[in-house]
Amino acid sequence: MKMFKTIATAVALCAAFSVQARTVDAIKKDGKIVIATEGQFAPFNFFQGNKLTGFEVEVAEAVVKKMGVKLEWKTLGFDALLTGLAQDRWDAVIASHGITEERAKAVTFAEPHYCSGGIIVSIDGKTRTADDLKGKTVAVQTGTSYLTQVQKLTGVKEVKNFPQDTDAQRALISKRVDAWVSDKFVAKEAAAKNAKAGFKLGDMLFIERIAPAVAKGNTGLADAWNKAFEEILADGSYAAISKKYFNEDVRCT
Ligand code: ARG
Repeated sequence: MKMFKTIATAVALCAAFSVQARTVDAIKKDGKIVIATEGQFAPFNFFQGNKLTGFEVEVAEAVVKKMGVKLEWKTLGFDALLTGLAQDRWDAVIASHGITEERAKAVTFAEPHYCSGGIIVSIDGKTRTADDLKGKTVAVQTGTSYLTQVQKLTGVKEVKNFPQDTDAQRALISKRVDAWVSDKFVAKEAAAKNAKAGFKLGDMLFIERIAPAVAKGNTGLADAWNKAFEEILADGSYAAISKKYFNEDVRCT
């Protein structure tokens, strides 16, 4: 009897931990897909008052509309987004994740929804290149490709990481750091919106393909997403959203 109980507990524990990601059929039956993002990375995902919006928020809304289901958003800290996929807490994540080998071990990426990269931002205007970062203090958001890429450079004095990219940006404004590394379009918008801060954009440190993610192996959902995404690329709706935010087409070519 005791043995039996032990086995029953083990089975229950296994069931609790190996949560199954929802298939595209289950999502269609439910009529609603749950997507997580951060909401603090303008112009890609951010809040305008109480309303979540941004380039990738609108792209996701257009894709999901083509898939014929409703969309429920969840917003969380950047660091929590990908791990929640494995726990089936949401069906997909769209939060400007660059496709990396490391991340691809844990999640399945859909087709990239834009191409961009990390750029060096300073106020002194003299910190422009990777070489200029030698002996300098650099601010980046925790858990990002900016952190990984800056860590790869030799000679950087210190990499300070912050839970939000906007905190890293503020560290530069208050001159607690010499440079901030972030997305090219995020930096462009920050520079335009904060003329007083006097941001100077330097070199691109690396380029990356940015994609939505689903739970590892949920290829049915990734395929359905990709099919709908192809449709918005083809029918002009992607181009319109891209033009609205960037005045250019940011699709990967
Ligand atoms: N593109 C970078 C990366 O792949 C940063 C993404 C940050 N996204 C965000 N929602 N704050 O790590």
